[in-house]
Amino acid sequence: MSVRHFLTLLDFSPAELDLIIKRGIELRRMQHADTIYQPFVGRTLGMIFEKSSTRTRISFEAGMGQFGGQAIFLSSKDTQLGRGEPIEDSARVISSMVDIIMIRTFGHDQIETFAKYSSVPVINALTDDYHPCQLLADMQTYYELRGSIAGKTVTWVGDGNNMCASYMTAAHQYGFQLRIAAPYGFEPAPELMQQFSHCVSLVNDVQEAALGAHLIVTDVWASMGQEGEQSTRARRFASYQVTPSLLDKADAEVLFMHCLPAHRGEEISHDMLDDPRSAVWLEAENRLYAQKALMEFLLTDKIQLS
Ligand code: CP
Ligand code: NVA
Repeated sequence: MSVRHFLTLLDFSPAELDLIIKRGIELRRMQHADTIYQPFVGRTLGMIFEKSSTRTRISFEAGMGQFGGQAIFLSSKDTQLGRGEPIEDSARVISSMVDIIMIRTFGHDQIETFAKYSSVPVINALTDDYHPCQLLADMQTYYELRGSIAGKTVTWVGDGNNMCASYMTAAHQYGFQLRIAAPYGFEPAPELMQQFSHCVSLVNDVQEAALGAHLIVTDVWASMGQEGEQSTRARRFASYQVTPSLLDKADAEVLFMHCLPAHRGEEISHDMLDDPRSAVWLEAENRLYAQKALMEFLLTDKIQLS
């Protein structure tokens, strides 16, 4: 049987994604009830980080620990990957020693190459193009708070970045309509707009994009690797700040999400995260359970039955 990887949401079927969300909710319930569930004693997660992280590192490391396994943090600064050892060679060697691998890196092609040569499942923990683990947590959070997202309207405000592209794949897989309000020149790539034209549209005016929305989402104006563009972007994105008054245009049951870290005073107003419609803290916590459900799904053949 060929190894399954999770590089974008398109790697799984809608039914599988639905299963993972529901399992994530169950795993959260179990953890909150102090239930010990350790199907992966003796199993190892390799975690390769080429960019910074708070949520992703802690959620994967704590999740594997709760499962009874262990996680190894591998920074590219301290491994031979950072000194130019070919990705193909690294993938063969690392995957011969661990059971599952997550990678946070720059080029999406790098994780594709790694996955091609890996003998164990590889999870995308963020590339320049996609952040699918965050979408599992976001979709789980919406489901927990509002039920199915199918048929709803989601509004993306801001940069057409890796999170925006992940929402495009989610619109396709979970069956919602995505409106994107991005400054001119910062929209998602035309090929992506073409691929997802059945469920994604561009709306120039932010206020109009928010009308009747069931979920409003944004992200930082300059992603990791774009720090040098911060001041130019701050000027171009100035009218794309998400505020409680923008949410007033949306559906009465609207939720607000942000993958975090957030920059108050930039992409969100200072009071946005404290608004009762903001779901960001549950969204962040759910990284843990969505990824536990994901690892359990990818390691099904290794589950220890007690
Ligand atoms: N949202 C997210 O991926 O956060 P970190 O960069 O802290 O991992
Ligand atoms: N778009 C952001 C997401 C951080 C979790 C980045 O890539 O830096």
